[in-house]
Amino acid sequence: MIEFEHVCKKFKGHTVIPDLSFKIEDGDFVAIIGASGCGKTTTLKMINRLISPTSGKILIDGENIAHKDVIALRRNMGYAIQQTGLFPHLTVRKNIEMIPRIQKKDPAEIEKNTQALMKMVGLDPQNFLDRYPKELSGGQQQRVGVARAFATDPKIILMDEPFSALDPITREGLQDKLLDLQAELKKTIVFVTHDMDEAIKLADRIIIMDHGQLVQYDTPENILKNPANEFVAQFVGHKRIWGSPDFIKAEDIMIEHPIGCSPELTLFRCLEQMRNRNVDSLMVVKDGILQGILTAKQALAEPDRSVKARSIMTQNVLHVAPQDTILDVLHLMNENHVSTIPVLDKSHTLMGLITRSSLVATMSSQFFETEAI
Ligand SMILES: Nc1ncnc2c1ncn2[C@@H]1O[C@H](COP(=O)(O)OP(=O)(O)O)[C@@H](O)[C@H]1O
Ligand SMILES: [Mg+2]
Repeated sequence: MIEFEHVCKKFKGHTVIPDLSFKIEDGDFVAIIGASGCGKTTTLKMINRLISPTSGKILIDGENIAHKDVIALRRNMGYAIQQTGLFPHLTVRKNIEMIPRIQKKDPAEIEKNTQALMKMVGLDPQNFLDRYPKELSGGQQQRVGVARAFATDPKIILMDEPFSALDPITREGLQDKLLDLQAELKKTIVFVTHDMDEAIKLADRIIIMDHGQLVQYDTPENILKNPANEFVAQFVGHKRIWGSPDFIKAEDIMIEHPIGCSPELTLFRCLEQMRNRNVDSLMVVKDGILQGILTAKQALAEPDRSVKARSIMTQNVLHVAPQDTILDVLHLMNENHVSTIPVLDKSHTLMGLITRSSLVATMSSQFFETEAI
């Protein structure tokens, strides 16, 4: 675990980071994001002691890093930066293997590892290992930079805008590679970026910084849904949630107290209820559990209005769970040509209802919010 405890950093009396505290759990991929000059790089460099805090403490696994041997500290930390930091006079192989060789690891082991890393970042070892950095494209160099950051199999990897100089397609490809690597190796990754899409795509949690201060530290989903303040909301952008529809859950868009009736209610009463409440169907509920749906059409087709709801309602209705996404809901609606979908928990308790019109209402409210700003 990495812990910042009241870390302050001043450069020549000028405070860049006033008072920063946060924790990063082992195996988490944390993105630090914020405007240029807000202190992201400074924060990152304090973790590997390229910069020392003016006051406060940084702990790794409970140990204050100020008291650790700095060489040992850095050897156990991968570091990748935008300018790659590759040594121009060394081949790709030597760049990747430099630290493992200094550490006197078994040469056969190193060779095997290098081959595996090259494949993981999508570079053919045969083709690239003996080239020099200048013989590679920017994207290829960046891949080598990533491979090198993983080469010592460190627990912690620090990355400072490693992909920001790349064209969008190369960047996307490398982001995907990094996600694959992380799924396999489960490192603790601290990744600085100024690109919100990148942070949302990659990180388990995002730290949003403004003028050296942490303004929000949360999952991408919660940041998109509940920005801590107007700064975050502006930074994130109100429309962005629609770029990540997986984060929009059925429970976020459902009507919370749909109009219901007891299975024992007569059709006469049911129709009256629908008229009064201005709906064209009722959720038939017993002890909170959904029994079926009764539509106005069904009720009107039955001449005997003393019949009870349960005898003509539709049973086994299609439904979604609260955590299903808006995409699941849309698929279900389109494939089955239904316009009303109840949201049920595991025990079939009725949690809410999604209708075509509630969907449209949610979507348009998002866009109206955007325009209001
Ligand atoms: N070595 C330094 N000396 C003086 N000021 C610095 C130094 N490094 C960074 N700064 C200042 O600290 C602030 C934060 O910089 P930095 O951490 O690089 O921001 P970011 O990475 O978020 O763009 C900036 O105002 C920058 O000018
Ligand atoms: Mg920076």
